[in-house]
Amino acid sequence: MLSEEKMTEVRAAFREDSHYLGHCSAQVRAVLTEIIDHPWFPGVTDPSALGLLGSLLRIIQPERMLQLGTHIGFSAIYFADILMRNARPGTLVTVEPDELAHEAARQWAVKAGVEPAIQFVDGRSVDEQVDSVLRASGPFDLVYLDSSHSYAGTKDELALILRPGGWLGEHGILLLHDVTELLANLSPEFEGGVRRAVLEWLALHPSDYHHLLLEPPLWPNGCGLGAISRRTAHIERQNGDHSIRPHQLRQNGWRQNGRPQHGQTFGWLARLKHDMRRLVRTG
Ligand SMILES: C[S@@+](CC[C@H](N)C(=O)[O-])C[C@H]1O[C@@H](n2cnc3c(N)ncnc32)[C@H](O)[C@@H]1O
Repeated sequence: MLSEEKMTEVRAAFREDSHYLGHCSAQVRAVLTEIIDHPWFPGVTDPSALGLLGSLLRIIQPERMLQLGTHIGFSAIYFADILMRNARPGTLVTVEPDELAHEAARQWAVKAGVEPAIQFVDGRSVDEQVDSVLRASGPFDLVYLDSSHSYAGTKDELALILRPGGWLGEHGILLLHDVTELLANLSPEFEGGVRRAVLEWLALHPSDYHHLLLEPPLWPNGCGLGAISRRTAHIERQNGDHSIRPHQLRQNGWRQNGRPQHGQTFGWLARLKHDMRRLVRTG
C-alpha cells in the first residue's frame, strides 16, 4: 500500500507522461485524467508499458486484441482509442471478474467515446463461459495479460492462450505485464508470479517460442514487460512470404480527421523504388 504522498507523485507521473498520452485523442485524455484521480486508480499499467504498448498497437495495427484484467478500464480505454483510429481499425475484448470495476470501466468507455470498439467480458479468464466467448471472438493478433499475477493463475492462462487452437492467433504476440524477478520475489503468496509461470512454460517448450523479458536495467521500472510469439510464425515469414504488407509500412498509418495518413508510406516507397532502380542500373 503506497502512502498518500507517494500516490500523489504517481498520479502526477501519469498525468505528465507525454509519451503514452501522445497516442491519445483529447477526449480520451480527459477521461484518463479523471480516472487518475479516482480512488480505484492504483493497479493500472505503468506509463512506460503503456507507451510501448501504444507504439506497438500503431505499428502492428492488430484487428483483434484481447486483454485479461480490465480493472477500471484505464488501459482498455487507451488501447481502444488507438485501435479505433489506426488505418487498419481494430477492436478490443477485455475480461474482468470484478463486476463493480467492470461497470466503472463501461461507463468511462462510453464517456471516452470508445465503447463501440470494446467488448467487455465478465468473469475470470479461466472460467469455461469466458473461454467460449473468447474462442468465438478470437483468435487474437495481440493478447495483453495483466490479471491475477499469481503463478498458478498465470500458468493456466498461458495454456489457454498458447495451446494449439488457443486464444492467440498463429502469428500473434502475447505481451505480459509484471514479469520482473523483483516482483516474482516480492509477493510470496504469488509463488513466483508471472515470471515463474513464463519461465516454466518456455522451459517446457524449448524451441517453440521467441521471447523478450524487459526488466531493469533494460527497463525503467520494476514491473517490466514481456513478449512471446510462436517460432513457427517467424520460420514461415523467413521461408515463405517476404512481401511487406501495406499496414506494416504504415507506421504512421494514423487516422487524422477520420482519414488514414499515407504520406510517409508513399514517400518511403518512392525512395525504395528509386534505390532499387539505381541498384539494377549499377549492379
Ligand atoms: C492490475 S489490474 C489490471 C489493470 C489494467 N490492465 C489497466 O492497466 O488498467 C488486474 C485486474 O485483473 C483482474 N483479475 C484477477 N484475476 C483475473 C482473471 N483470472 N481473469 C481476468 N481478470 C482477472 C483483477 O480483478 C484486477 O482488476
